[in-house]
Amino acid sequence: MSDRVWLFDTTLRDGEQSPGYSMTLDEKLRMAAMLDDMGLDIIEAGFPAASRGDFEAVYKVSEQTQNAIVAGLCRAVQKDIEAVIEATKPATRKRIHTFISTSELHMKHKLQATPERVLELIHESVSFARNHCEDVEWSAEDATRTSHDYLCKAVETAIAAGASTVNIPDTVGYTVPEEYFALIKMLKDRVPNIDRAVISTHCHNDLGLAVANSLAGIRAGARQIECTINGIGERAGNASMEEIVMTCRTRQDVMPYETGIKTEMIMPASRLLTDITGFSVQPNKAVVGANAFAHESGIHQDGMLKNAQTYEIMTPESVGRDRSDLVLGKHSGRNAFRTKLQALGYNLDDAALNAAFDRFKDFADRKKKVSDDDLILIVTSKDGLPEERVEFISLGVKSGSYGPQEAELTVKIDGAKKTAKATGKGPVDACFKAMRVLVPHDAAMLSNYELRALTHGSDAKGEVNIRLTENGQNFNGTGIDTDVIVASCRAYIDALNRMLSARDAAPRKATAN
Ligand code: KIV
Ligand code: ZN
Repeated sequence: MSDRVWLFDTTLRDGEQSPGYSMTLDEKLRMAAMLDDMGLDIIEAGFPAASRGDFEAVYKVSEQTQNAIVAGLCRAVQKDIEAVIEATKPATRKRIHTFISTSELHMKHKLQATPERVLELIHESVSFARNHCEDVEWSAEDATRTSHDYLCKAVETAIAAGASTVNIPDTVGYTVPEEYFALIKMLKDRVPNIDRAVISTHCHNDLGLAVANSLAGIRAGARQIECTINGIGERAGNASMEEIVMTCRTRQDVMPYETGIKTEMIMPASRLLTDITGFSVQPNKAVVGANAFAHESGIHQDGMLKNAQTYEIMTPESVGRDRSDLVLGKHSGRNAFRTKLQALGYNLDDAALNAAFDRFKDFADRKKKVSDDDLILIVTSKDGLPEERVEFISLGVKSGSYGPQEAELTVKIDGAKKTAKATGKGPVDACFKAMRVLVPHDAAMLSNYELRALTHGSDAKGEVNIRLTENGQNFNGTGIDTDVIVASCRAYIDALNRMLSARDAAPRKATAN
């Protein structure tokens, strides 16, 4: 059996499905380009029948993808399958991924169908898909809670109808490695036509076992893993791509499997996703967390200085991280700028680099920290970055245990200085209310607020990430300051500026078409 394991990325489908993680079309395209460049074998770009937006995303990802197979998800329903056929039309390599539940619980309560009827539906849906596309994947939703005899029949039916990949999801994150190993082995031993298909894993992380279960599946004979960047996904998420890839790479002695991933692009991909979604990963997250390569204790630091292998099982460079995580700002030089862009996967010629550097300087003058997302915009937008119509000037707050708390906020709006006062449940709430008085935006809601310390001690700098959502569109903002209320205001203004520039651009787009 080959040692090559196919990586099927579902960041844009299962990942995007989780609360707060929805992405705009442009964000999905940027993420998909990164996934394609870094060597993912299959990109599941969405669920085309779910909405017009999902359909368009799968279509556009299909148009731009150069290397990977583009997959679209569908239920065992003809109109869903047709939507995938249409949406993946422009793709050079395409896959229809159809699924149906096979556990007694799901068949009875969710599908309200008998096991016999579900077998018929598997046959009908896979045959229909196979008549339109050579590459069909079939998934047994809730496979890990399905009776073995029935799962064998269902898998055999799907393969006989033309599925070339059979996916065995642990939909509810319930299994454990030994059990999942035995399940995959059982299918290999008992399903008569199993040699005609690749077995795939799709493990959720409800018990924190998604990666361990996926790897157990591979050891038992599966050769495709479904995973996401940063492990995002429904509820507790999916198996994290970076953990799987780095486990195989670091422990070739016990996990002798190959993937096609350029591991130096792991960190840039992780950062791109956090910049797009506004959700950072926890600091101790394996491979991509802020502390994954940090050594705090004296004994560890001493060992590291003598020989890095004393406390490091992989190098930060191998996953695209700098030892001194490079943060760009207005004092950064051309060299640091070039290095950072290379880490993000952009190798510009001298002329393009100089032009982008000028735009960067301009932008950095206005912002304390330039995020990876900003840098990508700086590189990719020919017209430069959107104007910042709202500028932070000053803030005074009355805070403490006797409410209501008060804020007096002064900003410049299109060059004119304005001040507003407001009260709220806490100083942040008061500031944001003052912001709404200064720039009315009733239809927008605050859909995410995160605060973290960037440095140590009581004088640490705080970073605030916020997200505003208006008419289904998300606008992320970041603010940094030693005063966390000021950082909150800066983050809000950053998101607001992005929202205002999208509003300004909207009529122009309409007339251009
Ligand atoms: O978790 C699951 O079962 C799924 C399927 C649709 C593959 O996401
Ligand atoms: Zn899933």
